[in-house]
Amino acid sequence: MGIFIVFSKLKKIVQTLKFPSTKYSTILDYTSHSLVTNLWNCDFMAPIENTLTKGAQVLDVGTGEGAWVISCAERFPMSTFIGVDASLYFPLVPKVKFMNAHFLKTDILEGLALEDNTFDFVHLRCITLIFTDEEWSNKVIKELIRVCKPGGWIEIVELDCQYINQGPVHLNLCNQSKRFFLENNVHSIAGEDIAFYLKQTGAVCEINEELRVVPFHGSKLGKSFADHQIKFMQAYKDILPGILGMDEKQWEDTLKTIRKELSVHKTESIMRRIYCKVNPKQSVI
Ligand SMILES: C[S@@+](CC[C@H](N)C(=O)[O-])C[C@H]1O[C@@H](n2cnc3c(N)ncnc32)[C@H](O)[C@@H]1O
Repeated sequence: MGIFIVFSKLKKIVQTLKFPSTKYSTILDYTSHSLVTNLWNCDFMAPIENTLTKGAQVLDVGTGEGAWVISCAERFPMSTFIGVDASLYFPLVPKVKFMNAHFLKTDILEGLALEDNTFDFVHLRCITLIFTDEEWSNKVIKELIRVCKPGGWIEIVELDCQYINQGPVHLNLCNQSKRFFLENNVHSIAGEDIAFYLKQTGAVCEINEELRVVPFHGSKLGKSFADHQIKFMQAYKDILPGILGMDEKQWEDTLKTIRKELSVHKTESIMRRIYCKVNPKQSVI
């Protein structure tokens, strides 16, 4: 398949996630893939389309169900796509088979089980609220650069967990959750810092940042984002109510109120797409 995966580098996966993925949340990945694609009207913005058409090596980190990998593998049959994730869900894989889409369980915090300078394009999307600031700057970003070829492109897409026009119940829930995440050094608007983390490595150039407003109201897309937001919170029913000191009934009522508030208050958020080129003469940092 054109790349050399060093299985011997695979280390024991340690569950260190502050806000771990749940089976239910990965089932939502495919929905979120179509919402995010609709919002941006593209799968990526890095100027890599011609390279992918001719044939390239592509990595998707935190691939979840592999929806992005499968969609791109179908569109660019000459390229090879590898989706990696710390969890072994990949439930779409047995149903949808593409010879150029492969999946591997490996944890970026442990060091990806992949060779240096391997990929023409490295993509990471929607891993908000999982990594601490220190993990973003000292591990995640450096690992993305390590596996990307000199002259290759890196693209990161993240949702800011900071909202515009919130209702009181939603605001209260966000403030309390934010406190919990900060106590664990997880920054809920990590997306804001990604361009800075990339720049401070000195290993990348041509850093671009694009923003889109994510609506949780109004149009069909806005309503779908609102429904998805509530389902995402429901997926964490074993974690969030405990943090907030709520029982199951209070939690369910809170979610119903938040769903109404998203629409009434016309709540919105920001999604960022940051893409940059690894310095053409870059050796591994
Ligand atoms: C919300 S899902 C996003 C899935 C996909 N990127 C998308 O946009 O549809 C986040 C994924 O990141 C994975 N993940 C979390 N921590 C990780 C780590 N340390 N290394 C690799 N994957 C990780 C989770 O298992 C989960 O599948």
